[in-house]
Amino acid sequence: MKVQSIRGTHDILPGSVELWQEIEQQARERFRLYGYAEIRTPVLEETELFARSVGADTDIVRKEMYTIEDSKGKSITLRPEGTAPVVRSYIENGLSNEVPVAKLYYIGPMFRHERPQKGRYRQFHQIGAEVLGSDNPAIEAEVIEMLFDLLQALGLQDFNLLINSVGCPVCRPAYINRLREELRLHAGELCEECLRRTETNPLRVLDCKVPSCQPVIERLPVIRDWLCEECREHFSLFQKYLASREIAAEVCPRLVRGLDYYVRTTFEIVSRSLGPTQNALVGGGRYDGLSELLGGPPAKGFGFAMGMERLVLLLSGRSELGAPFKVPAPEIFLVHLDQAAFEYALGLASRLRKEGVFAYVDFAGKSVKSQMRQANRQNAKFTCVIGESELRSGSFTLKRMADGVQTAVTENQIADYLRREL
Ligand code: HAM
Repeated sequence: MKVQSIRGTHDILPGSVELWQEIEQQARERFRLYGYAEIRTPVLEETELFARSVGADTDIVRKEMYTIEDSKGKSITLRPEGTAPVVRSYIENGLSNEVPVAKLYYIGPMFRHERPQKGRYRQFHQIGAEVLGSDNPAIEAEVIEMLFDLLQALGLQDFNLLINSVGCPVCRPAYINRLREELRLHAGELCEECLRRTETNPLRVLDCKVPSCQPVIERLPVIRDWLCEECREHFSLFQKYLASREIAAEVCPRLVRGLDYYVRTTFEIVSRSLGPTQNALVGGGRYDGLSELLGGPPAKGFGFAMGMERLVLLLSGRSELGAPFKVPAPEIFLVHLDQAAFEYALGLASRLRKEGVFAYVDFAGKSVKSQMRQANRQNAKFTCVIGESELRSGSFTLKRMADGVQTAVTENQIADYLRREL
């Protein structure tokens, strides 16, 4: 039986990987300009880290984590997201003593056992950034400006910014009580999940997509009317800082997000091109209090994560992740006629590579004809046939594949010639 990849995971083959590299490179450049340094945390963490931070009653912790017991009976989990690990590392490595405001970014795989569909996978990749040590709403606007810079540099056009405030431990409890009372009155009209959430986490009801729940949800009190003075001021400054950067945002009172650590500002960047359900490209927000929750010093936090698969779907205009398999195009394909020419070609290739030339030698032991066919298929820029007479004379004919023009050069001239012509 053929062994296949696990459902919800995917290979990124040559031909597709170049777009991923381009996205990563553009992201790294943007992050550098805004003062972010890369952090790499382990893929495995203690389960407790996510239970405490993401929240025991979230979909992620209740049913989507890949959790195993190690040989000592400790529960460990493949990270479903990057924020909690970054905050754990920030605390563990005492980063608050090193810089007043830590700006960190990460790129890597995350794991959630969700039902796979277009734009939703079990192993997916996030590009994320976290700022620790500031509760200034200006940093929030700066983070969003950086994201807009990145998306625009990548040529993405069709996206919108949604923002909300989910209040803080001062004002949120009263709102949640009010929400619960209201929901209990409409218990008969709610789906089973909403009924459960009415008691455990009523805020999450706002996120429900079940059509029959919508009439109730639309009439629920909105958190904006319950914000305390400080949260109100924070949200209005955040909007002011966005406006001063000419960033348009739509206030979306139902934007509560699927993770429990958020306070005050939450946001998403959505794109209609992703379809009606998995339309969030970026999710983020403020998480003051998370550091303390994880046993660390008081530290305000704000950040985001962007789904790379969703970005790739948008940028490639495809409905699937994969593009046709393609290997890189050699600058020169050295075609060899016999064993002596093959050995010479190996040495020549290694000398050319030292001069920065992408030289390719066939190892499949194929005929000259099939080597030429292979050079064509790989889109080689030049070919050079090496046989007895070339070895004897020291003169090599380089053929430009685009137009068939041939030029004779000595070995020492090859690299310079290619540099001029490529
Ligand atoms: P999140 O909203 O759970 O937030 O995920 C952020 C983004 O990751 C989503 O908008 C989406 O593009 C992508 N994503 C999530 N799940 C999947 C999946 N199953 N398949 C494909 N893509 C997916 C967080 O993870 C927070 N840690 C964001 C954050 C950082 N908040 C503050 N700092």
